[in-house]
Amino acid sequence: MKRFLGFLTIFALAGVSFAWSGLTPAQEQDKVELNRSKFMRAKVEHSKQIVEGLAMENYDAIAQNAQDLMLLMNESMWNAFQTPEYVAMSGEFKAAAEHLREAAHNKNVDGATLAYFEVTLTCVRCHKYVRRWGQNPK
Ligand code: HEC
Repeated sequence: MKRFLGFLTIFALAGVSFAWSGLTPAQEQDKVELNRSKFMRAKVEHSKQIVEGLAMENYDAIAQNAQDLMLLMNESMWNAFQTPEYVAMSGEFKAAAEHLREAAHNKNVDGATLAYFEVTLTCVRCHKYVRRWGQNPK
């Protein structure tokens, strides 16, 4: 009987921990929001590090952060929008980030600064577009 109760306790505990591992819809939403804000922060962080790289002529940092910005495009969150305009702006962003990486590889600080402006322009242009359509892609 004691052993039976022991097993029962183990099963009960297992059941409880299983139930706990499931997320409520509100928690799921929090997770999406967390991922989203982490993703957005990553974009800002890389941009800041590029500015710092430009100021210090740290070409490795510039190239690395330009590359990281491009890698963010592989995240599903980036592709939440599927309109032709959005896809085109994503392409412009990628081209600008590639110019930046190239200029950093060539240790061309003026070219990299120009390419950084190009990247920033595409950030702003895309956000203007997203806001104008008042959509909140998830
Ligand atoms: C091709 C489109 C596109 C480009 C380019 C782009 N973003 Fe975004 N960005 C988005 C979308 C879509 C959102 C989400 C908007 C929303 O959900 O309201 C967003 C949101 C953000 C936010 C959060 C704003 C908020 O209201 O929470 C930040 C910060 C951000 N982006 C930074 C950047 C930076 C920095 C760059 C350039 C290095 C950049 N983004 C380039 C599409 C883009």
